[in-house]
Amino acid sequence: MSQSKPHASTGQSNIGVPTLDDVDVRGKRVLVRVDFNIPLVDGRVTDDTRLRASLPTIQHLCHREARVILCSHLGRPGGTPVDTLRLRPVGEHLANLLGQTVKCAQDCIGTTTKMDCEDTEPGGVTLLENLRFHAGEEANDPAFAHDLASNAEIFVNDAFGSMHRAHASTVGVVSYLPGYTGFLVNREVAMLSGIRDNPERPLSIILGGAKVSDKLPLLTNLIDSVDTILIGGGMVATFLYAAGYQIDEKFVETQQIGTTSRIIEAANQRNVKLVLPKDVIVTRDLFENAPYQTVSANSIPQGHLIADVGQRAIKEFQASISNSKTIFWNGPLGVFELKPFSSGTRSLAECIVSLPNVTTVVGGGSTAEAITSLGLDEKVTHVSTGGGASLDFLGGTSLPGLEALKRQVT
Ligand code: 3PG
Ligand code: MG
Repeated sequence: MSQSKPHASTGQSNIGVPTLDDVDVRGKRVLVRVDFNIPLVDGRVTDDTRLRASLPTIQHLCHREARVILCSHLGRPGGTPVDTLRLRPVGEHLANLLGQTVKCAQDCIGTTTKMDCEDTEPGGVTLLENLRFHAGEEANDPAFAHDLASNAEIFVNDAFGSMHRAHASTVGVVSYLPGYTGFLVNREVAMLSGIRDNPERPLSIILGGAKVSDKLPLLTNLIDSVDTILIGGGMVATFLYAAGYQIDEKFVETQQIGTTSRIIEAANQRNVKLVLPKDVIVTRDLFENAPYQTVSANSIPQGHLIADVGQRAIKEFQASISNSKTIFWNGPLGVFELKPFSSGTRSLAECIVSLPNVTTVVGGGSTAEAITSLGLDEKVTHVSTGGGASLDFLGGTSLPGLEALKRQVT
């Protein structure tokens, strides 16, 4: 393992960080941080978007005869092994996608792991066990980062979805190994920078999902370049409240009312079209066969929560984005997993993919899952694998994983 500063690479990613394109990896053990934090139901992978997105980097390394050591977290085990969060089912699914064996290690550090890594053949792939089984991962503990790094000679970060975490596998290891970005990270940064820094206008931003708090920085940051904002999902409640509607406070993020009001005001001042749904589907309880009703947004009955947007809202949403040249969408418009509340998300997704000459970027775990389950993922320009990471990036916050890679070249 090299303790020295990274060697120079001729390949620079669009972020000013060396990228794996030009580094000689033949015969080297390459530690690749991937984001394989994907949904598993009864040990079966139910959405493999993140796995498929990591294939170009893994295949590139295999073709160049690198000895590929993959590492990832899965879920939030809290620093201790949890059987249901073992990565073996993910490794098996990956092996099918790659068409080659993926050896699953018992751990991610320690003597046996090191031997597993050393035994990995050129062109072969070993998947280390869940990083978060060790508390040192999330604590960015230098000793843990050192042990993890000692499995390899080169580090590649291709875990865009985890770039907003300052953990040992995203930040700490860069103190011990020369670090590079992978192809997924390069693509994500290119797509999202386009939206953040230089979007082709009109730009429409569609936000949904339950929580408003993680999305407000993005609106604040992009308020001068956005033309249309559509709001859906549970977060509609906070927007309606801030706009002066009668809303049960139980469903409002009260701490966010001030910022939400300021965004509404800033949108008004700048002639940004901010569209709140005129009608919504509400229910008392969220389950598959729960009774529900469509009501006007100004007459939501007490004790009812917003589970989807209504038909009038959908029509207005569709009309509002029809002339867009760039669309960014994060967060489903309703509780997409439950059938009665999936139609807002489905209708809007179908509308978006039918628009001609638009750059469409869909971000966030549940939005990506929705688009994929509708079979529309191939029809949008880019499905981001980052939820929190893409929101932070567009919100103007620097991503610790990227910053760590940048620091080594300065
Ligand atoms: C995610 O899916 O959000 C990333 O994999 C990061 O996971 P985390 O939110 O548990 O840190
Ligand atoms: Mg997350």
